[in-house]
Amino acid sequence: MYNNRKSLIIKVLIIVCLIYFAIHIITNSAPTVIRELQQSGRSLAALDTQSLEQTSLVQEIAVPTTVNITKTSTSAASRASEDVRRVLTVFEKVKEVTQCLDRSVVPKTQQRGDYWVLYNYVTAQRTFKCEESVTYTTHADYSFMDNLVPLLERWRAPISIALHAPGSDFANTLESIAHLRDCTTSLVKEYVTFHIYFSTKHVPKEVPKHNHVFEEPYNCSLTPPYLNVSSDQMYKAQKNLLYPVNVGRNVAREMAQTYYVLASDIELYPSPNISTKFLDMIATNTGPLLSKNPKVYPLHIFEVSANAAVPETKNMLKEMLGNGTALPFHKKLCPGCHSVPKAKEWQTANETEGLHVFHVGKRIGSFVHWEPIYIGTHFDPLYDERLSWEGKSDKMTQGYALCVLDYDFLILDNAFLVHKPGIKVYKQDPKRSMLAAKTNQLIKKIIFPELKVLYGIKKGCAV
Ligand SMILES: *[C@@H]1O[C@H](CO)[C@@H](O)[C@H](O)[C@H]1NC(C)=O
Ligand SMILES: *[C@@H]1O[C@H](CO)[C@@H](O)[C@H](O)[C@H]1NC(C)=O
Ligand SMILES: *[C@@H]1O[C@H](CO)[C@@H](O)[C@H](O)[C@H]1NC(C)=O
Ligand SMILES: *[C@@H]1O[C@H](CO)[C@@H](O)[C@H](O)[C@H]1NC(C)=O
Ligand SMILES: *[C@@H]1O[C@H](CO)[C@@H](O)[C@H](O)[C@H]1NC(C)=O
Ligand SMILES: *[C@@H]1O[C@H](CO)[C@@H](O)[C@H](O)[C@H]1NC(C)=O
Repeated sequence: MYNNRKSLIIKVLIIVCLIYFAIHIITNSAPTVIRELQQSGRSLAALDTQSLEQTSLVQEIAVPTTVNITKTSTSAASRASEDVRRVLTVFEKVKEVTQCLDRSVVPKTQQRGDYWVLYNYVTAQRTFKCEESVTYTTHADYSFMDNLVPLLERWRAPISIALHAPGSDFANTLESIAHLRDCTTSLVKEYVTFHIYFSTKHVPKEVPKHNHVFEEPYNCSLTPPYLNVSSDQMYKAQKNLLYPVNVGRNVAREMAQTYYVLASDIELYPSPNISTKFLDMIATNTGPLLSKNPKVYPLHIFEVSANAAVPETKNMLKEMLGNGTALPFHKKLCPGCHSVPKAKEWQTANETEGLHVFHVGKRIGSFVHWEPIYIGTHFDPLYDERLSWEGKSDKMTQGYALCVLDYDFLILDNAFLVHKPGIKVYKQDPKRSMLAAKTNQLIKKIIFPELKVLYGIKKGCAV
């Protein structure tokens, strides 16, 4: 898509140049066009590395006031200019609606509670203005990195990922990153920024400086550490460490360059083209988007059987729901946990063009314990870093804050997430049950009283 857009822009520029020369020869007086042409030289160079970075310059060229494009150009060229203009107006409109500020990507080593964090340790080649995309932000350890390629193929927009890499897991994590960047798809280098963190009690033996991480290309005939990992090989398991899920969630989210972020779990694959369709929707700025309440945009989540394909479109998803190869997420594990307001209606509604708000829900009533995954912004409350993945309920306290702050949950219609194939069934795990009980006590006795002080209380809200 990036290449397409680039070649479209180049086509438009060439046509504008031709038109200019024609006019110049006939009238011999077009000073404003000369200025535009000079600018076109500059912005063409910028476009080579930075897509639509030079928004205002490109627009002057794509929509020149002195030339009648519709009259002189071929229909292909006018379609090209239409396309450029459409994207530019979407970005401009998103910028206007959100008043967002750009964020730079600066590598830094910094403490965060009991953890050392290597922020922006390996950075993506492309950078984004705050209005130009949506960032998928997520967390993992190296044993989950096989999800990155299928995720990228569907997302094709920036990803910010925080990796937990204590002790000797660090070296395996670096090798996994190197393999993904050098031996899989070029989308990894293009879009993914990696952050790494570990406990101050489990610092790796060696940590290269961020600009000397990969001195040599990876030998792609080697099997990367992230394939076929058994968890007892991992340092984390040998030392009996918990997985600090919310440290990772927060690090990844805070480092996203774009105003809109999808804070998700790496095994949840999005339906294609969400990022562009979502910005198109934001740019319309109508209906429930105009509400004064703070807003997040939840996505429906599904799981599919181990040997099934991940559905690309809502129509395919509907067929799979129909024949039982797809199910709402955790239907067998915990039916109430992920139920979404108006879920039945959503599942029967036909797919339409583009993306819209299907229903505005609240986290109250039968949805009081809802842990939605949603597109939100940097303004939403972060996740409590005292909670671990093993202890469960790791998004509950954030959900409480959203409820008290009177958030609207604008559920999207044609977009959804699908878990990596394989339907989860309940397995007893005494250690996790014990940790979950401890977490419930921590939330009840310590965190909830804090939240009541910080955010207040509201009828109908609960953790
Ligand atoms: C541009 O061309 C269109 C279609 O031929 C015409 O309707 C319009 O009047 C022209 N505008 C100018 C400024 O020449
Ligand atoms: C890459 O790894 C393969 C398999 O271990 C090995 O045979 C080969 O010599 C290595 N290549 C280089 C350039 O190190
Ligand atoms: C990983 O394990 C699977 C099944 O156990 C096997 O088919 C596959 O070849 C293994 N891959 C590697 C790279 O060892
Ligand atoms: C996603 O967008 C690309 C480029 O606009 C298009 O070619 C592709 O068909 C879209 N895919 C889906 C599933 O909408
Ligand atoms: C279920 O539906 C999907 C999508 O139409 C199809 O690909 C799959 O083969 C079907 N599976 C069964 C068991 O009918
Ligand atoms: C959805 O589309 C199908 C086939 O195109 C049609 O038969 C059905 O009535 C539609 N359902 C709704 C709720 O519009």
